[in-house]
Amino acid sequence: MSLVKRCRPHRSPGLPVLVVGALALAAGLAGGPASAASQDTLHDLASAQGKYFGSATDNPELPDAAYAAKLGSEFGQITPGNSMKWDTTEPTRGRFDFAKGDVITDFAQEHGQTVRGHTLVWHSQLPGWVGALPSTEVETAMTDHITAEATHYRGEVAAWDVVNEPFNEDGTFRTSPFYNAMGKDYIAKALRAAHAADPDAKLYINDYNVEGKGAKSDAMYNLVSDLLDEGVPLDGVGMQAHLAIQYGFPYQMQANMQRFADLGLDVAVTELDVRMQLPADAAKLATQSSYYAQVVDACLAVERCVGITVWDYTDKYSWVPSTFPGEGAANLYDDGLAPKPAYAAVRTALGDDGDDDGGDDGGDGGTPGTLKALYRANDTAAGDNQIKPGLQLVNTGTAPVSLPAVTVRYWFSGDNGATTYGSWCDWSPIGCSTITHRVVAASSPKSGADHYLEVGFTGGTLAPGAATGEMQLRLSKTDWSNFNESDDYSHGTGASYADASKVTVYVGGALVWGIEP
Ligand code: G3I
Repeated sequence: MSLVKRCRPHRSPGLPVLVVGALALAAGLAGGPASAASQDTLHDLASAQGKYFGSATDNPELPDAAYAAKLGSEFGQITPGNSMKWDTTEPTRGRFDFAKGDVITDFAQEHGQTVRGHTLVWHSQLPGWVGALPSTEVETAMTDHITAEATHYRGEVAAWDVVNEPFNEDGTFRTSPFYNAMGKDYIAKALRAAHAADPDAKLYINDYNVEGKGAKSDAMYNLVSDLLDEGVPLDGVGMQAHLAIQYGFPYQMQANMQRFADLGLDVAVTELDVRMQLPADAAKLATQSSYYAQVVDACLAVERCVGITVWDYTDKYSWVPSTFPGEGAANLYDDGLAPKPAYAAVRTALGDDGDDDGGDDGGDGGTPGTLKALYRANDTAAGDNQIKPGLQLVNTGTAPVSLPAVTVRYWFSGDNGATTYGSWCDWSPIGCSTITHRVVAASSPKSGADHYLEVGFTGGTLAPGAATGEMQLRLSKTDWSNFNESDDYSHGTGASYADASKVTVYVGGALVWGIEP
């Protein structure tokens, strides 16, 4: 099946259509944004790996020029967040309105993007008249709806979420007007109707909480296995991937994707975002970054994973805060459209090497991954003449990190007495001989942070997922006068190693972890 865009003859956009068509062909799988960006876009990087990278969007967002510019340049695929849903496209039986959806397909054509159609049959955002139908009429209403919409967008929608969210969390079928009228057969009937209307579109069943192995993804697996056995036209499974750092990363996501791929199906990550409890801080954003990177890693590792769509790219237009009060910050860019740490993590996971050639050519030795610092207090005496931080670094990224490029700062105040210091490394599994340390006077001294212990490395590489192990460090003033550590910025009292956002980490001089005082 071709994913190359075709255009409806009744709305001829003229010359740009030909240009877009050529770009789409050249970019292969997923088209390519017509962009003059100076660095590879997320979609460029994904395309180099045979995948697309897309974003959801919604009509009210498009007049935001800065938003639309990035949507059109960074992403190779878009999904309408609302405008192809049943309540918008057929609010009254038999009266179709595709105006809002057409705005989305027009935008995509102007920017050389493919479109995932979302969604034909769903229990939500369903106009009241569907639920009020006698059960004997539901099948006809459903197939009429699918036929009209999939026919209208034939050639413009590369893939359809034909059926959305058919399961409850325990893997039983969700009740809906469709299930109530037809039982689970509504799914096969919907897929057949969509295939008849647009034989070239890729047809998906899409759901959330099916990213990892569990009861719900087992149910999806059993359903799609049965459908394939019955010869029902089905091309893929959509994993929405609305993740939350407080609930952990999906269990065995890559293996779960692979088992669907092994059935001969495509897999798509269709609605990725990673929310957290607000306020966001450096530690939460680092965890979020690692979740995004792990999703990219899983998709890259599974050949039949065709691409990733984020459920809008900016916190400015996220669905999360209104649905989960107190949660948010779920997207790759912040409210001001500035990229967040997760954006860099996704780039790195996609193989960015800083060149503008669509990926890592090994030419510069790779890019830094994402590091985090862990800390524990190695002494309980906060008023004596020594400070004893225990530190560890963990590579939470997907690229190896060259340790000589890394420095770590433990911030403290010298209090009264001498302003010169000595420092020591007492023990580390990587060997104290590879660890450098010195005390530096802060250029902008703050209360509790007029100095920092700067830790560096003479050699070594930290592989993705690897940790340095603990570094037992110690410092004192040359006159051995006492400190008052209790108000020191980086000081804590925890006896176990824990993520430490007040210990800052730099790669090549750029802050990659923590918050400076
Ligand atoms: O259009 C009305 C507007 O007229 C009214 O003034 C306003 C007042 O609240 O509501 C507007 O409708 C909102 C609609 O989005 C369009 O913005 C609805 O209230 C709001 O509930 C709806 O939320 C959408 C949600 O689906 C509904 O379930 C989100 O934007 C959309 O991002 C979200 O997307 C879903 C996927 O389709 C399926 N997977 C989960 C995902 C997140 O919930």
